[in-house]
Order: sequence, then C-alpha cells, then structure tokens
Amino acid sequence: MPPVPVVDLARRAAALEPDLSAAIAEVLAAGVFLLGPQTAAFEAEFATFCGRRHAVAVATGTEALRLALVGMGIGTGDEVIVPAMTAVPTAAAVVAAGATPVFADVRRETAGLDPDAAAAAVTDRTRAVIPVHLYGRPAELPDLGLPVLEDAAQAHGALDPAAPSVAAAYSFYPTKNLGGIGDGGAVVTDDDDLAALLRELRNHARGADYDHPYITGNSRLSEIEAAALRVGLRRLAADNARRRAVAAAYRAAAPDLAWHPDHPRHVYHLCVARVSDRDAYRAGRPFDTAIHYERALTQQSGYAGFVRAACPEAEGWAAETVSFPCFPEITDDEIEAVCRGLL
Ligand SMILES: Cc1ncc(COP(=O)(O)O)c(C=O)c1O
Repeated sequence: MPPVPVVDLARRAAALEPDLSAAIAEVLAAGVFLLGPQTAAFEAEFATFCGRRHAVAVATGTEALRLALVGMGIGTGDEVIVPAMTAVPTAAAVVAAGATPVFADVRRETAGLDPDAAAAAVTDRTRAVIPVHLYGRPAELPDLGLPVLEDAAQAHGALDPAAPSVAAAYSFYPTKNLGGIGDGGAVVTDDDDLAALLRELRNHARGADYDHPYITGNSRLSEIEAAALRVGLRRLAADNARRRAVAAAYRAAAPDLAWHPDHPRHVYHLCVARVSDRDAYRAGRPFDTAIHYERALTQQSGYAGFVRAACPEAEGWAAETVSFPCFPEITDDEIEAVCRGLL
C-alpha cells in the first residue's frame, strides 16, 4: 500500500464528479456567471447550516475576514488581536483592512487564543478580536467587551450559533471541510445591516444608481464555485462525522500520543498531535504527515514589525505540531494502516 496521504482531493473530485458536472452544466445553461441564483441559493443554504440569518459569499477566506473587518468599521489606526498560532491570512486580512494585527499567545492545552493573553494585549486602539477555531476545534471567545470576529476558515460545522460574535469568516479553499473547486469564502452573521453592507463591499460598493460610496474592490464568488459548494454542503455533516470517526480511531490506537484535545463540536479539519522529536517521528511512517504550521506569527519574517510580546505557547505548538491523514474519503484499510503505524 502506498503511504496514506494527509488529504487526497482527487478522490473527493471523483466521488463528487457526477453531481459537480451536473451543477456546472446548470450554470452554463443559465448563462449567469457571477452574483446569480447559485450564489443566492448557496448563501441561503449555508446560513441555514450555520444557524445564522445571513451568509455573504465572497472570493476567498482572507477576503471574508478583510471585508468583515471593513464592514465593522475597522481600518487605519485600529488594532485587532489575533492568536499567534494560526495561518498567516488571519493577520494578513487585518493588514489588508488597513489595521494593525496584535499577536496574543494561545493556550498550551488547545492552541486556541488564550483569553488572558488577549486581555493583556488590549490597548486604547483595540477595536476587535479574532479567535481562530484552529484545526476545526471551537476556540474560546474572549469576553473583553470588544467585537468578536470568528475565523472559522477551518471550522465549518463547529461553531456555536448562539455565540456572541459579530460574524464568522469562512474559507472554501479546496482542502477545507467545505472545500470548493477553486477559491471561495463567506461571512456569516445575524446582523442585517452588516450583511447588506458586505453585499455592496464585495462588488466595488456599486449602488443601484452606479454611485460608489466606498472604495473597496472586487471580491465576488463565481456561480460555478457556488454551485460546486452547494454539492459539497449536502455532504458536509456526513463528511464531518467521518473526520470525527477517523480521529477517534487514531486516539484509541495511540492513547499516549499528545493529541490536540477533543471537543463535542470538533470537526477535525486537521487531526493533530504534539510530538517533541518531530523530525524523527515523521521519518519512516507508513503514512504521510504535514505541519500546520511550522512558524507562529511571531516567527514570520514579514510580520516581525507587529511583534510586541513573546508568545511561547504558540511557538511551542509550531515546534511540535504534526498533522495526520484525515479526510472523508480515507478508506477503512488506510485508517487501520495509520493506527498500526502511529506508535
Ligand atoms: C485559519 C485560516 N484563516 C484564514 C484562511 C484564509 O482562507 P483563504 O485561503 O480562502 O483566503 C485560512 C486558509 O488558508 C485559514 O486556515
């Protein structure tokens, strides 16, 4: 058996091919390629899935974060707290909105934003905080009296619909739990005014009379992408259940590995453990592994100017984290092979 891959999008494409082809054919027949019926239907279906009033589809997850911040009135001179252990787009979106990202450390146990570290990072310029549901595990939302924007790029299906956040930003990058056949993103919110504003902002803020009250840009999702996401959304709950089962099998097979802790709503975008001697561990396994992420934000050269405080827990995670094969199409034989090779 070849090494079990960490993820295999070709299998996913093969499994979805008949439905995807039909969905694409429908778009071609309709002859509407942007901001049409597929986008509207996907937005309604994804909002329902998330238990929120609105989903506004945009071009990428990074744009979902940026536009949500802009829509929340955040820009030049403002600071936004982000966890130091995350994918760089969390911080890149803050910079793209014109604001300053302020890195706060994460909890050693969960890799989620540490509310105490976030509180310590607050200044009189702080305007929002972005907890990241890293690896698909719900992070705590710090109660700092500040607007919360959830980075849910890795957490489709993991969020609490009753959480007191302003909005959540999703990515539909192909490897995500709800992944497209290209780029995509969405902002999900209960705020009617924010949703209406985001629908303008994603499309050059063009009003009905062709006036443009804001300078923004193009962040539209294509109709083909929306149609493909509707296909994926129909399977998302089952896919998440399969991911949970994969992670449960690994834990049972190797209870002594330092697994990223379980959670009732964990959707296992990535199944991760901490391994102190990482290079030696990864060598010679009968399965592939990956690292998400090799560097904390405090260790990223391009972001060095934003570092204010040490974030040792984030850097500890970056030094030891290992991602194991976890995707809905993994076979039972492959799960067994990974289980046998874990220790
Ligand atoms: C935590 C996190 N935030 C934001 C993003 C940005 O999403 P995208 O790649 O769709 O712009 C990603 C995905 O790369 C991510 O993992």
